[in-house]
Amino acid sequence: MMDFFVDTADTNAIRELNSTGLIDGVTTNPTLIMKSGKSHHAVIAEICHIVDNLPVSAEVVAIERDDMVREGKALAKISHNVVVKVPLTWDGLQACHQLHQEDIKVNVTLCFSANQALLAAKAGATYISPFIGRLDDIGLNGMDLIEDIRDVYDNYDFATQLLAASIRSPSHVTQCALAGADVATVPPGVLKKLCEHPLTDLGLESFLKDAAKSKT
Ligand code: G3P
Repeated sequence: MMDFFVDTADTNAIRELNSTGLIDGVTTNPTLIMKSGKSHHAVIAEICHIVDNLPVSAEVVAIERDDMVREGKALAKISHNVVVKVPLTWDGLQACHQLHQEDIKVNVTLCFSANQALLAAKAGATYISPFIGRLDDIGLNGMDLIEDIRDVYDNYDFATQLLAASIRSPSHVTQCALAGADVATVPPGVLKKLCEHPLTDLGLESFLKDAAKSKT
């Protein structure tokens, strides 16, 4: 089963999408937290409350291992469903390993290569977040990375879940599903577009017209 996470710290959007029953988690990052206009811990607590038991990724902003571990533990204390997000650096990988040893789930973010993803899996990451859109932005093909990580993880049966991030369009979601990503984290606007098709609208319009003409 492919999971859909919503990539935002906008609590109104999260509330609305959560009520559909179609989302499986939330991811945030410092930029999304800044856009929410709320403080980091307050908005993470609010999101965790809205989505109840679903995983909510909250990113550390420390850059040294011990500081990341300290910050990660503080974030994990906010709620049982917090997943600590750390950047894919040597310090981040060591923090991931340490947090994992203490049974705290970790999402390793800012992944741009299969080797990085391999290291994150070895460090015990629950999720690896390769950024598709940002690779496309510099003229590379983000989807190649999703396919490579899928192959590498399958070769060794790694339990780390492939969480495709930096998704910008419905077509990215389709390609992720075809490549076997475990999770796609998707901005609210793109998530809503997944349901849209002009032929669905036209077909429905014509069915409703014909239904009105039928004998009751
Ligand atoms: O949350 C990480 C990722 O999804 C960010 O996406 O569009 O800022 O590259 P973007």
